[in-house]
Amino acid sequence: MYLRNCWYAAAWSRDIEPNKPFARTICEEPVVIFKTESGQLVALEDRCVHRRAPLSLGRIKGETIECGYHGLQYDCSGRCVRIPGQQDIPERARVRAYPLADKWRWLWIWLGNPEMADESLIPDVHWNDSPGWVSPGDTLHMNGHYQLLIDNLLDLSHLTFLHERTIGTSMVAETPMKAEAAGDRVRVTRWIIDQEAPPMFKKAGGFTENVDRWQIIEWTPPGLVLIDVGCAPHGTGAPEGDRSQGIEARSINLITPETAKTHHYLWSYARNYNIENIELTEFLLRAVGETFLEDKEMLEGQQARAESDDRQDWTIDLKVDSGPMQARRILERLIGEELGAVASAAE
Ligand code: FES
Ligand SMILES: [Fe+2]
Repeated sequence: MYLRNCWYAAAWSRDIEPNKPFARTICEEPVVIFKTESGQLVALEDRCVHRRAPLSLGRIKGETIECGYHGLQYDCSGRCVRIPGQQDIPERARVRAYPLADKWRWLWIWLGNPEMADESLIPDVHWNDSPGWVSPGDTLHMNGHYQLLIDNLLDLSHLTFLHERTIGTSMVAETPMKAEAAGDRVRVTRWIIDQEAPPMFKKAGGFTENVDRWQIIEWTPPGLVLIDVGCAPHGTGAPEGDRSQGIEARSINLITPETAKTHHYLWSYARNYNIENIELTEFLLRAVGETFLEDKEMLEGQQARAESDDRQDWTIDLKVDSGPMQARRILERLIGEELGAVASAAE
């Protein structure tokens, strides 16, 4: 079950190249995204109405996409406009067209009722596309249920054990956090006061003395986990709001379900310090990317273990799970409300 009346990050804007259809399955729906010759971005159902060939194996012709099998052409609304060798085009020769928006250097797709696709509902992740910020990032394909990654990002106690080479220190797991729901969002806050900086921050910020470090995580349903992270020399006022002596970043994590067992993970790591330093940008791209590969390995291991075990309620929950559990409850409620609304509209 997926929330459908919402925007999902479908791809990086840079992923769509001229004359090259881009295929991606989102919430079990095969989608082809392409740019027409005039530059319009289009998302269609990736399944030809003739014999179900993937349209992504076809080619872009002007303002249409042509199926690579027998040449049916579809316009930007998904309507078939040409059938080689015949004049009449059946009325039902069409595929779904999805609302698509290009914002913050990502493409956002709306799988639900197109009339509800309001671009002002795209979550604010402007740090990925703002002057004064530089934001390297990438995409990972994850063999696991998407909720596992939301759990992972809402509970950073795992940094201590899984990411000791980059962002973990023993103090993360030992420091209590506060988890609270605000409307449909969940916020988890942790301050680690007067402790050594983790290796990646030491390198990025040149810290030699102890620091005050913050992790302020906010989940917006269904798939955004935005993490305000940073540290400042201890005693310079960061907990009171003065970050001027420190460094800060926004870890932007966009989680888009592919199937019930897989998802797409689009991430970027935006910072506002030393933004001209290309070496630092490359270092952070590598360090954060390697860190997330550690998450990928663990998460895929969890998925495999879950699939070979049908004991319900066998696992236990800990204090650190309060953020993830609140998010799970909210998402379940939102999906339930959406299904209820669809059912009553159909009555
Ligand atoms: S399957 Fe697409 S034209 Fe035949
Ligand atoms: Fe992690």
